[in-house]
Amino acid sequence: MYGEVVPSTAFANRVVELDRLVGDLAAGQKVFLISPRRYGKSSLIRHALATMSRRRGALTVETTVSRFSSYVAFLEGYARAIVVADTQGDRARTWLREAIRSARADVRWAPDGLASGAPAPRRQAQDEPRRPPRGSLTVSFPTVRSDRDVSRLAEDVFALPARLAQLRRRKVVVALDEFQAIAGFNGGSVEHALRAAVQHQRDVGYVFAGSEPSLMERMLGPRRPFYNAGPVMRLDKIPPDEFAAFIDERFARTGLRPDPGLGAAIVELAGNLPYDVQRLAHETWDDIRSGGRRRATLDDLHRALRRLLSEQQVIFEALWQRLTLAQRSVLRAVVLDEGHGLLSADVRERHRLAGPSTVQTALAALVRDDVISRESDRYVVVDSLLREWVARRTF
Ligand SMILES: Nc1ncnc2c1ncn2[C@@H]1O[C@H](COP(=O)(O)OP(=O)(O)OP(=O)(O)O)[C@@H](O)[C@H]1O
Ligand SMILES: [Mg+2]
Repeated sequence: MYGEVVPSTAFANRVVELDRLVGDLAAGQKVFLISPRRYGKSSLIRHALATMSRRRGALTVETTVSRFSSYVAFLEGYARAIVVADTQGDRARTWLREAIRSARADVRWAPDGLASGAPAPRRQAQDEPRRPPRGSLTVSFPTVRSDRDVSRLAEDVFALPARLAQLRRRKVVVALDEFQAIAGFNGGSVEHALRAAVQHQRDVGYVFAGSEPSLMERMLGPRRPFYNAGPVMRLDKIPPDEFAAFIDERFARTGLRPDPGLGAAIVELAGNLPYDVQRLAHETWDDIRSGGRRRATLDDLHRALRRLLSEQQVIFEALWQRLTLAQRSVLRAVVLDEGHGLLSADVRERHRLAGPSTVQTALAALVRDDVISRESDRYVVVDSLLREWVARRTF
């Protein structure tokens, strides 16, 4: 299924990247994983963590930094993720309270589900690992108020992974996804505190993944705390021919007969963005299956595409309405000229665009809103369905 982290059978390629990431994490490195949105960072991380736990018995911690609305909320969520990773979660209350010296740690197993009338959680059998039910654990630091309290707490929390590694005599691997969001929590001081903590944690591998390349690259620049902190992996798109072959094979393996070139057409239409490739492949596959057919043709693909476009119509119209006229014409030019030479007199004239500085401003606004992104020497529309919609339905 697309839109979720892919199960291993649906995971294309990435063999080299996975090997490298697992190797680095096993060596206790602090790895930075950078790519634009929807290239497959979170999926890669999931696989690397699963591999680390299966092959090396590592305890794995995963948190998405951008989900939290404040620095304290992040520290609570992060501490919780560390406790959940512990195989002896029922002892967590004790060790967490000892490890967090600067504040009171409240660890609770909320009897959730009871209130909503759901059956009570099953009692754990003797031989099962004593892991608390995941959904119901909360960690909070109710006494933390001032900025000073928060920075002292952060120091304690950032030391927890090493503490866990030592306590259980296991490797620990930490993934902080959407890491660029850390800069929003009172920027510099978080970076300093985290860098200071992780650099001595030899038994703990870290992967910091970020989907805003420019923010991440700046974070790694000289005079910033994470400068030279560890290897940087820049995730590229999956090679299109390999991805196409993978898609064809998935069709074949589920009993359909893809016409030659179907996988390639899907990858091409989807701009080779893993998320969009999976979506288009899945929708096409679904239409064919529910029609009870075996052969998968290019016509099927185009029918699925038209259906998706009409399903997204309302969303795309709303997006279009929000754009200024300058942004609309620039977006059309990006689509029709495949993102090349937007500032040149020729392209501006052909698409009746304004002067270079207006075009520049419009491009910047579209990039900021995640509508388009820069890819080496050109601009691309992030969502390939939107690109098709703009090409077919706007003027
Ligand atoms: N190696 C892969 N093989 C097949 N499909 C993949 C692969 N990697 C990612 N995908 C598809 O792309 C989608 C997006 O991947 P993922 O969420 O991992 O990207 P991301 O880089 O973390 O994106 P974001 O920046 O939006 O968080 C997945 O739901 C999946 O459908
Ligand atoms: Mg992600």
